[in-house]
Amino acid sequence: MRVLFLVHGYNSLTQSLHSALAARGHEVSIEFDIADSVAEEAVALFRPDLVVAPYLRRAIPASIWSRMVCLIVHPGIVGDRGPSALDWAIQDGEKAWGVTVLEARAEMDAGPIWATAAFPMRRGKKSSVYRNEVTAAACSAVIEAVDKFAAGNFVPTPLDQASARGRLRPPMKQADRRIDWQRDDTATVCAKLDAADGFPGVADALFGAPCHLFDAWPEAKLTGVPGAVIARRETALLRATTDGAVWLGHVKRPDGIKLPATLAFAAESAAVPEAALDGWFAAPVATWQDIRYAEAGGVGFLHFEFYNGAMGTRQCRRLAEAFAWARTRPTKVIVLMGGADFWSNGIHLNLIEQAESPADESWANINAIDDLAEAILSCDSHLTVAALQGNAGAGGCFLARAADFVWARDGVILNPHYMNMGNLYGSEFWTYLLPPRVGTEGALRIMKHRLPMTAREAAASGFYDACLAAELAAFRVDTARRAAELAAAADFGARLAAKRERRARDEAAKPLAAYRAEELAQMKRNFYGFDPSYHVARWHFVRKSPQSWTPRHLAKHRELDWAPPT
Ligand code: COA
Repeated sequence: MRVLFLVHGYNSLTQSLHSALAARGHEVSIEFDIADSVAEEAVALFRPDLVVAPYLRRAIPASIWSRMVCLIVHPGIVGDRGPSALDWAIQDGEKAWGVTVLEARAEMDAGPIWATAAFPMRRGKKSSVYRNEVTAAACSAVIEAVDKFAAGNFVPTPLDQASARGRLRPPMKQADRRIDWQRDDTATVCAKLDAADGFPGVADALFGAPCHLFDAWPEAKLTGVPGAVIARRETALLRATTDGAVWLGHVKRPDGIKLPATLAFAAESAAVPEAALDGWFAAPVATWQDIRYAEAGGVGFLHFEFYNGAMGTRQCRRLAEAFAWARTRPTKVIVLMGGADFWSNGIHLNLIEQAESPADESWANINAIDDLAEAILSCDSHLTVAALQGNAGAGGCFLARAADFVWARDGVILNPHYMNMGNLYGSEFWTYLLPPRVGTEGALRIMKHRLPMTAREAAASGFYDACLAAELAAFRVDTARRAAELAAAADFGARLAAKRERRARDEAAKPLAAYRAEELAQMKRNFYGFDPSYHVARWHFVRKSPQSWTPRHLAKHRELDWAPPT
């Protein structure tokens, strides 16, 4: 079937659905929601059998839904309606939630129901629940709905609001999110911040200046006068609640972009006492710790929980430091665990945007991430594993490939290409790492097509080594077991020797320094050359500028050689 996606943006949920439907043999084309006339034109060009809206912020025009079936993905249970579905569910502490696929009608979210999928609600950030539970449920519900549509005889169930558990909820306002620092305990503050994470954040103030808060982490030990900022650690600030304290990772000041808290309030933060941690070992109690290390069965596990998977210059340097330290431990295997939601999305575009010279900061950041990749590539004391619990994009996908083994959780979405960011050439040794895995042609195709790749596709193509359990806890158990087996294997020494030989052979054929120099020569042009595409693309990316057109690689129906079906 031909399926047209009408979307606000090509986000990870849309990418997952795109991959899932394409894998089932459907032809998917995408149009961004720019104007009703543009959506109508897309329908006329593509002549889809079905329209699906996985992520849309406006109603589909009646001129489309009155003529054909249009399925809306709503991140709520049956009967739930309104644009703040997840926000309310998290803030209200719902125990079970779900996704509903319903047909578009004049009244928002009130059309007949094609499929639903339920999940137990996890306490966590809205963006995390969206990327994990909601995405998995949406994939299964949309596949069910598409199959029913293809079968041709399914009659969707009209919404019976009276008997449904869900209800119509208004858009959540800042007044609903407001934190009362004199009354709210840590759990309440975290629930409010979690419900607003990603966008829009909670309107509040720090050091007397208005800002929106994001990225909350509970603190189990330190306390203070409720509302007071009592400590800082790296990029986060600690603020006391009535029964403890909450780390605030990121803030957005009026007219600014989202930044690490200590950078957004640099001068004020300098006067706040530092609550440093003692080394890299995971703290024994709940706190904010962006890099943490644990050990079991001859294996060292290095976690790096960087917000949104963005890795700034200092974060890369600290991680390289932690990796070098991990190599001194009496272990045989090091597993690079990344964060729970993202493994890495490459260089930190917000920090670059904020820098006095974005070109200089881009250069410093790419060199820092390359240093880290080089340290992993040339590690001759341990076998290394990158374990992708969450998604990876651009340089992050190749940084993972620098490890000897890459295991990804089923459901993870990868974007192993750079061109979407203003034709960036990319570095992280991709020219060394990618072609041997997928061939020269394959590498060019991946880079040029700029399409997402699922963990299954990555393993099937040989780019990564294995696609493991979809469920996060099961993935961690499986990863730990496999890593322990590697460490305990009788042939561990032989494997390590073979790795050293392979690296020496490759180095003799073409040194890593040469790959790096060639990639960085191109990147220098991206950063300092006459073509400003990268700087323009980054500007729009960090400010979330509305889309003004759909890229051709997504809108198949707009390709020059597209012929409408007869
Ligand atoms: N630097 C800074 N912020 C980044 C980032 C980066 N490299 N990559 C993602 N983010 C942020 C987004 O701005 C967004 O911020 P928000 O919390 O304010 O909404 C958040 O991470 C999630 O990103 P989003 O695009 O909504 O997630 P997604 O899962 O739908 O898409 C990607 C993932 C990787 C396709 C997309 O984020 C992307 O293209 N990132 C840029 C990758 C890149 O070009 N890196 C630089 C070259 S190495």
